[in-house]
Amino acid sequence: MRVDLNVPLEDGAVADDLRITTALPTLEWLRENDAAVVVAGHLGRPKGAPDPEYSMAPVAARLSELLGQAVPLAPHVVGAAVDSYVASLEPGDLLMLENLRFERGETEDDPAFSTNLSELADDYVNEAFGASHRAHASIVGPPRLLPSAGGRLLFREVETLSRLLEAEEHPFVAVLGGAEISGKIDVIRSLLPRVDELLIGGAMACTFFRAMGLEVGDSLVEADRIELAKDLLATSGKKLILPRGGDIAPSLERASEHRSVAVDAIPKGWAVYDIDAATQHDYRARLLRAKTIFWNGPMGVFETPPFDAGTRAIATALVEAGKKGAVTVVGGGDSVAAVAGLEDQLTHVSTGGGASLEFLEGKELPGVAALEDK
Ligand code: 3PG
Repeated sequence: MRVDLNVPLEDGAVADDLRITTALPTLEWLRENDAAVVVAGHLGRPKGAPDPEYSMAPVAARLSELLGQAVPLAPHVVGAAVDSYVASLEPGDLLMLENLRFERGETEDDPAFSTNLSELADDYVNEAFGASHRAHASIVGPPRLLPSAGGRLLFREVETLSRLLEAEEHPFVAVLGGAEISGKIDVIRSLLPRVDELLIGGAMACTFFRAMGLEVGDSLVEADRIELAKDLLATSGKKLILPRGGDIAPSLERASEHRSVAVDAIPKGWAVYDIDAATQHDYRARLLRAKTIFWNGPMGVFETPPFDAGTRAIATALVEAGKKGAVTVVGGGDSVAAVAGLEDQLTHVSTGGGASLEFLEGKELPGVAALEDK
């Protein structure tokens, strides 16, 4: 069973286990049906060789806590020692492989590595939606060699994100934040024809302000994307909605001096670190009118209070909109951290960062395509 076990660590322990807990139903189902399960995943981006910093040990420890039983960690990904371990497994047993990316063949989709990996099992389950945009050996290799299936989480991800692409329920409002336009251009282009409004937040907004000829002080700007931002503004009709004002400070170290200004009054020597209260109010009103909402990316530097206010306001507005019947979907990375604890009040919190964005760009994910006739 391939799982997206690429979880954040803090002091050697798992800091957020959403990607582990969401894989549990499939894992439990397999074991209840007498499978011995070999769990395979990657952590970080080690360079094709063992690196203790990226060992799966903390992930195996967390899975073991969640299941209330030992989860042994194989010493390697493949090889004689792993083979004999796997051969000793009884129905219901579990084994976690070491980090798949300790093997160069993983990211290179090397056929010999795919074969070695596939020989560990009789059947393959892809429960790693979050890694399914990678044409890596553990994602696309086993479906060529073994009877294969998608897991429940993978199905839920594909079904929910497909609903957004079909955008049946309007108004459909998307909220995109984060630092850079560059990583979001394709998803902005793909979403614009589908949404009624696309609300922009995060430092990315400042590149749009520059495109409108506004001064942004010391704010983060992608100078080489200003022309692109102009083009998006010109072609988006009135769908692209930008912040009315920002919460600014001279620097993050001097956060206590923060104040709010309108977007046309950002002084020299100051930088925007969050959307201001007026924008929070405006975005909340737009979200409460929506029937479908997709959110990716924080509205500000939410790790540094008080610049978490904008991101928190969006999280709260999504919960409120959900209570009024809207479909609320949060995709990827930092925005998932911002809704920690609210998951059961949202329709879906995607475990895919890059994968959910690529899906919403309309791209075919190699891991999903590999399962299509399975
Ligand atoms: C993710 O964290 O988005 C996935 O696990 C993929 O990881 P990657 O970007 O290192 O391929």
